[in-house]
Amino acid sequence: MKILSGTSNNKLSKDISKKLKSKLVNTNIKRFADGEIYIEINENIRGNSVFVIQSTSTPVNDNLMELLLCLDALKRSSAKNITAVIPYFGYARQDRKVAPRTSISAKVVSNLISMAGADRVVTVDLHAGQIQGFFDIPVDNLFTTPLFARFIKKSFKNKKLICVSPDVGGVQRTRGLATKLKTDLAIIDKRRPKPGKSQVMNLIGDVRGKSCLIVDDIIDSGGTIVNAAEVLKKRGATEIYVFITHGVLSGDATRKIQNSKIKKLFITDTIDNSNKIKNNNKIEVLSISSLMAEAIKRISNSTSVSDLFN
Ligand code: R5P
Repeated sequence: MKILSGTSNNKLSKDISKKLKSKLVNTNIKRFADGEIYIEINENIRGNSVFVIQSTSTPVNDNLMELLLCLDALKRSSAKNITAVIPYFGYARQDRKVAPRTSISAKVVSNLISMAGADRVVTVDLHAGQIQGFFDIPVDNLFTTPLFARFIKKSFKNKKLICVSPDVGGVQRTRGLATKLKTDLAIIDKRRPKPGKSQVMNLIGDVRGKSCLIVDDIIDSGGTIVNAAEVLKKRGATEIYVFITHGVLSGDATRKIQNSKIKKLFITDTIDNSNKIKNNNKIEVLSISSLMAEAIKRISNSTSVSDLFN
């Protein structure tokens, strides 16, 4: 087994490879003057099972293209099989036609990854589980629920907790955490009048006197979470914590969080945010590296990945 890292999240790749006691494949990844990407693999990988780790986070198109070229380079170097490990799977939110004559980016990206040479995909908290069906190769979708549940059980003892889904689409994910923690569930009815703008319509559930744990897959502009926190406070919540897998954190999201009613936002390291959040004391990172390393080990040994979540 060999591990090759793209350049989008080197820190996570290094942490995973350290846990697997496997050195990262020696590569030369650079940009030509016009921005085109050049990939060269500097060691023999013929007959090896290779895991390529690359999040397709900002700059999304560059990181996606880099992943595709890595897959192609591996295919042309006679790797035995190639697994695309995509901790954050960009373009996943456009998973259906939301209006006539729009594209379905998640499907286009799935086609590209398969065509470029991936035999398998490993990702984390896919925006919608059904994206697995956009591929005709196996897709292992890892969940952060056990990581968050362990942390909450250890850190939030003696609090009256309730898990809150910030929109109807996230109910299944939030219910998973609420079940593990044996807490109640509240649901926010969110509308999106236009892309990037969110509006809270209703709250289903009683949050009065409780510490709310908002759970979501992505924080992008921060609008969804900040609006949700406002409503929860107005309805009598005592404090608000947020658990989100992918910290996209576009624009002034970190400033919005800093000035919001949120007590603490926990994100994982599927996206490298070390620079963005270094001066923000409201945002903390929980690492997903052990979970990803264990999943890679199990895939490599052909043992069960789903057992990790039972
Ligand atoms: C939407 O369905 C996602 O699960 C997130 O709620 C959304 O992407 C968050 O976006 P923003 O932070 O821009 O409101």
